[in-house]
Amino acid sequence: MNEIKAPKGTRDIFAPEIQKWHNLENAIHAYYKKFLYQEIRTPIFEHSELFSRGIGSETEIVQKEMYTFSDKSDRSLTLRPENTASVVRAVIENNLFETLSPLRFYYIGSMFRYDKPQKGRYRQFQQFGVEVFADDSPQVDAEVMFSAVDFLKKIGIEAMQLELNSVGCPQCRPDYLQVLRKAARAQESRLCSDCRRKIDGNPLRIFDCKLPACAEVAASLPLISDHLCGECRDHFAAVRETLSWMNVSFQLNPRLVRGLDYYTKTAFEITSGQLGAQNALLGGGRYNNLIQELGGPDMAAIGFAAGMERIILHLEQLEPARPKTLFVAYEDPQWLAHAVQMAQVLREEGYPVYLDYQGKNLKKQFKKADRVAAAFTLILAENEIQSGSVSIKNMVNQEQIKISLKELNEWLKKNY
Ligand code: HAM
Repeated sequence: MNEIKAPKGTRDIFAPEIQKWHNLENAIHAYYKKFLYQEIRTPIFEHSELFSRGIGSETEIVQKEMYTFSDKSDRSLTLRPENTASVVRAVIENNLFETLSPLRFYYIGSMFRYDKPQKGRYRQFQQFGVEVFADDSPQVDAEVMFSAVDFLKKIGIEAMQLELNSVGCPQCRPDYLQVLRKAARAQESRLCSDCRRKIDGNPLRIFDCKLPACAEVAASLPLISDHLCGECRDHFAAVRETLSWMNVSFQLNPRLVRGLDYYTKTAFEITSGQLGAQNALLGGGRYNNLIQELGGPDMAAIGFAAGMERIILHLEQLEPARPKTLFVAYEDPQWLAHAVQMAQVLREEGYPVYLDYQGKNLKKQFKKADRVAAAFTLILAENEIQSGSVSIKNMVNQEQIKISLKELNEWLKKNY
C-alpha cells in the first residue's frame, strides 16, 4: 500500500523540538500579560469575504494564496491566512468595545497560505500576534515595537533589525499613488509583467518585487516619506522619538511596504540576518480604517504578527531544556504494585516519571531507562522492599546509592 505523507508545506512537530514550542508559547503568555493583553482565539476558517475585504482583493495573499472552499451549503469559506481581520471581526461581532478594557489582544495559532514552501516558509505555519484597539497615540506604536524587540531579546534572539516606515493615510496616499504610477509608467518597459500589472492595481507592491531589474526601477521611484500629510509626518516623528526614549534602535526603510492593504501610517518589520531568504521574523503596523471598513466604529488599531517557525529556526542552536525523567525499576514482577505506587507518589510531587510495565528484568529496564533519557533510576528489589528503602542509580555516571524511603523526598530536592 502507498504510504500517506503529510501535505506539502506542512510539518509534524514532536520531541525534542516540541519542548521549544512549549517554551516559546509559555514565554508569550507570560510576557504579553505584563502589558495587559488578553488572549483571543478565533476560528481557523472564516467567510472568504472577511479576507477579501479585510486584507485587500488586490493582494497576493487574496489573489493567489488562500485556501478557499465551499462547504456543503455552498458557503465560501477560507482557512485564515492571517488573524488581524478575524480579531477585528470578533471584536465587532461580540461588542468587545463595550465590555473589555483595555482593548489589547494576543493570539497564537495556525495560519494557511498556498505559498511556495522552502526553509522558513510553509503552507501551514504558526503565528503569534498582538492587536491594540482604540488608541491612535504614536507612543502605542512605539510600545508595540518595543515589546516585539524586547520579547525576542528575552527569548535569546539578538541578531535582528527593526525596519520602520510610514505608509501614509487616506488623506495623503492617493496623491502619492498618482505620482508613483506616473513615475512607474515612465519606466514600464523595464518592469516584469507582474509589476506592470501592479501599476494600476497597487503600485506600492512594485517595491516588493525581488527581480533585480524591478528593484533597480524601484530604487528610483518617488518615496511615500516625501509625500506624507502633516498629520502622518507628526505621528511618524513622535513614533521615532518615543522609540529613542525606549532605547529601541531601528532603521528607516522608506521602501518598506507590507503585503496586506489595511495599513495606515506606521509599518514595520523585524528581520534576521540568520534566516536566509525568508528573513522576516515579524511584521505589522497601524490599520486605522479596517475596523470601520468591516462594519465597526471609527477606531484606530495597531498590531503585528510573528512567524513562530522562524523564531524556532533562529533558536535552533539553543539546547531544548529536557525534563529530568525519573525511572522506576523493579527487580521482579511481584514488586510491580510497589513500583506503580511509587510512580504515582513521585508524579504527585511534580516529577516526570516513567516505568516499564513489560520490564522482564532489571537489565532490560536499565536499557529502557537509557532510551527515555532518565536522569535517575529508582530500583525496587527484595532487599529494598524489606528494609523500607530504595536504590538510586545515577544514569549519567552509573553511581548507585541506597537510601531509606523516608529520606527520598529530601534527597530528590537536593539532587534532582
Ligand atoms: P505578515 O507579514 O503577512 O503579517 O506575516 C507576519 C509574519 O508571519 C511574517 O513576518 C513571517 O514571520 C510569518 N509568515 C508569513 N507567511 C509565512 C509562511 N508562509 N511560512 C512561515 N511564516 C510565515 C500579518 O500576517 C499581519 N496580520 C500582521 C499584523 C498584525 N499586522 C497588524 N496586526
